[in-house]
Amino acid sequence: MLAASTTAIGWVIFSITVVGWIVYYLANRRSAQPELGSEIELAPNRKPYYDDETLEGPRLERVQLFGVLLLALIVIALPLYWVFEPQRQAEATSGKEGRFVTWGGRLYATTAEGGFNCAGCHGANGGGGSAPYSIADPNTGEVKAVNWLAPAVNTIFYKYSESEVEFILVYGRPFSPMSPWGLAGGGPLNDQQIDTLIAKLWSLQIPREGCPADDPNCDIGTLPQEEKDRIDEAATTAAQRLVDQGKYATVDEAMGEALFNLDLAAGAYSCARCHTQGWSWGDPGVAGQGAFGWNLTGGATVRHFPDQADMEAFISAGSEYGKRYGVQGQGSGRMPGYGRMLTEEQIESVVEYVRSL
Ligand code: HEC
Ligand code: HEC
Repeated sequence: MLAASTTAIGWVIFSITVVGWIVYYLANRRSAQPELGSEIELAPNRKPYYDDETLEGPRLERVQLFGVLLLALIVIALPLYWVFEPQRQAEATSGKEGRFVTWGGRLYATTAEGGFNCAGCHGANGGGGSAPYSIADPNTGEVKAVNWLAPAVNTIFYKYSESEVEFILVYGRPFSPMSPWGLAGGGPLNDQQIDTLIAKLWSLQIPREGCPADDPNCDIGTLPQEEKDRIDEAATTAAQRLVDQGKYATVDEAMGEALFNLDLAAGAYSCARCHTQGWSWGDPGVAGQGAFGWNLTGGATVRHFPDQADMEAFISAGSEYGKRYGVQGQGSGRMPGYGRMLTEEQIESVVEYVRSL
């Protein structure tokens, strides 16, 4: 607000100055028009100036008064500047953030609205959706039209750091409808456009619980209780279905598999969309046998994490580029962290399921 009014004051001063100069110019021109007499007589430097009496009296006092007024002006203006500057800077920053969200929003919009259609696949509010896609069978060459689930992006910063999301946006998921968007990945968007998209994604995040009010994007908050309840409810329903199918004796035992395959908000919470081939287009192969994410079957993963607690910590934090995990594992930053979304018990049951694969 203040920044805006400062700009307005600036404009007023600017307008007064411009008008003043125009008035001065016109007045000067007018007074210069009539030729009054010989230049020798009238040249300003030939006119007698004030006498000493006036020069050292009223004239000197006027100049001194002028100096005192200017000094007073500085004494008032400098502290005022000092008082208002932090707020001006804060508003400039939040103004920039607002502009980035607006610009990113234009890129995020559907094709019909002139955007790059993130909204068309991921939903206008980032809740997820799906996209038509064609996949070719590598063995037969047969092409199949499928509908590929596009995960929700309104929890993306719960699971990934900003640089990890930037990597996803720049390089896409090239085997899927998610094409590369950054120039480095062969896409159309420059670095600043990617930055504005990231600002837009931040603005879409489900507000976190446990964050200070002045920093809704803080790093410590978790999913709000009603969202956690939603996951819990969907997982319990899915687990009950597995029990009804006779696969498990109790809902508790079925919980791990239910969470692994959880199809909530178009697969935002599911492990299977990355670890089970075909899951994203409704034709899942062997559970956990690997797709974008590693093959979790056959004991290799258990050899990576002999200690179950280590695996739980990994699922909670996700992988980090270049950082070690488990035994001889090195992260790429592409495995999301679930600690801010799932409870410890849920992570424990999904890990027990993974270890059983
Ligand atoms: C044609 C549909 C489509 C468009 C357009 C699209 N995406 Fe995606 N996006 C997907 C799909 C599908 C995936 C998941 C791919 C997979 O299965 O690994 C995805 C994945 C993502 C992910 C990673 C999510 C995760 O949890 O793994 C992010 C972030 C993302 N998209 C953001 C965007 C943004 C921002 C735009 C606009 C520039 C965009 N997408 C445009 C379909 C699309
Ligand atoms: C967005 C895709 C994605 C999702 C969703 C995902 N993962 Fe992963 N996962 C990966 C990738 C990629 C790796 C390989 C490690 C890396 O690149 O950092 C990985 C690695 C792992 C590993 C280590 C495997 C090994 O042997 O080193 C485990 C265990 C794992 N994921 C379990 C899970 C579980 C459980 C979930 C669901 C709660 C899940 N993943 C969801 C992509 C994903």
